[in-house]
Amino acid sequence: MALLKIAKLGNPILRKISEPVTKEECLTPEFQQFIDDMIETMQKEDGIGLSAPQVSRSKQLVVLQSQMNPRYPNEPDLPLLVLMNPRLTLQSDEWVEGWEGCLSVTNLRGKVKRCARLHVSGFDRKMEAVSFDAEGFLSVVLQHETDHLIGKVFLDRMEGFSTLTHLEEFERHWMSEQAKV
Ligand code: NI
Repeated sequence: MALLKIAKLGNPILRKISEPVTKEECLTPEFQQFIDDMIETMQKEDGIGLSAPQVSRSKQLVVLQSQMNPRYPNEPDLPLLVLMNPRLTLQSDEWVEGWEGCLSVTNLRGKVKRCARLHVSGFDRKMEAVSFDAEGFLSVVLQHETDHLIGKVFLDRMEGFSTLTHLEEFERHWMSEQAKV
């Protein structure tokens, strides 16, 4: 196991379109180890999601998980999910606004509107096809993480920067609001 270095805003890899993962590539011991390293890195960094470009590998792979996360204390737990080559289909006209942060955009939070419901398809770590519906917090995290695969960060999805907030001020002024979104 190894902790991977997080690419921060300004690193060109965060702006690239990621390549799909092939079955052959996915099933190699090296790639399976990479998936484990991504999970470990997400957990150590208190992230609720991590995409491969954020650890400098331009591949369509995201991992997510949330269990009593200190960075998101008001949000529900999410079981561990490893998803390759994800495709999201928006399934609602309803948009929900919530605070987002990102391990690649250190110490900032901002409000972003996301689609309330999605259909998700992709592949698990054995490269078996998966598909499911997602709503609420899971839907938001999936939209955030898959944006990384097309070179976007949450700042690009903000309608304006008037809610852009340093983490310290977020904790002082806005943390309690997070439960309402
Ligand atoms: Ni992010």
